[in-house]
Amino acid sequence: MDIVTICNLKKYFGEGPRQVKALDGIDLSVEKGRFLSIVGASGSGKTTLLNVIGGLYEPSEGTVIVDGTDLSELTEEQLTIYRRRKVGFVLQDYNLVPELTIRENILFPVALDDSRPDEAFFRNVVKLLGLEERLDQYPYMLSGGGQQCTAIARALITKPSIILADEPTGSFDAKTSQNVAGLLKMTAETYHQTLIMITHNPELAQLADRMVRLRDGRIVDI
Ligand SMILES: Nc1ncnc2c1ncn2[C@@H]1O[C@H](COP(=O)(O)OP(=O)(O)O)[C@@H](O)[C@H]1O
Ligand SMILES: [Mg+2]
Repeated sequence: MDIVTICNLKKYFGEGPRQVKALDGIDLSVEKGRFLSIVGASGSGKTTLLNVIGGLYEPSEGTVIVDGTDLSELTEEQLTIYRRRKVGFVLQDYNLVPELTIRENILFPVALDDSRPDEAFFRNVVKLLGLEERLDQYPYMLSGGGQQCTAIARALITKPSIILADEPTGSFDAKTSQNVAGLLKMTAETYHQTLIMITHNPELAQLADRMVRLRDGRIVDI
């Protein structure tokens, strides 16, 4: 079963002669529970595609159906709920709040959503990512890898069905990158999530079940 179905997706920025065709006719389906990696040169449209799937950008043309829902049919309010509950973002600069402890950072999306944390699930996620001893510490006290683990835990805490990772291993060395990508893959498998990961690193892209390459806003054969 497909969890994401994208048909003839186009996304333009700006107008007139200076218009940028960031996405220029994307057709893509992602099967539920699978791991898809997206590769392609800088400027090829990877982030734009992820942000459309995540409900951050509205398509200029085409349809994006996630779990049976056409995103264009959602109201602003429904879209906000979609972004909070259905998808979890993991970005290159993990955007932890420096004044909050690791525990508070992880639970931040739950607080934002006015819901109660599932304590057992929280402990489970924390254990899986090796953060048990870090909960009362602050982000600056952790390594880059540890901070990224916190960001992954924060993405997982709302139990999203799709994890969207935009170059999550960005500036890490090879070993840390492997670890972080491996953890994302492991948590996605544990919680039966669909994982879509953008990466520049061909070795990490190979961890996925499937890889697509973007060029000038289109999917090209690999
Ligand atoms: N918010 C935006 N406003 C204007 N142009 C944008 C915006 N976001 C992306 N672009 C342009 O769209 C193209 C694709 O960008 P992006 O999706 O960020 O590529 P990638 O993630 O593959 O590097 C680039 O030419 C970029 O400059
Ligand atoms: Mg990008």
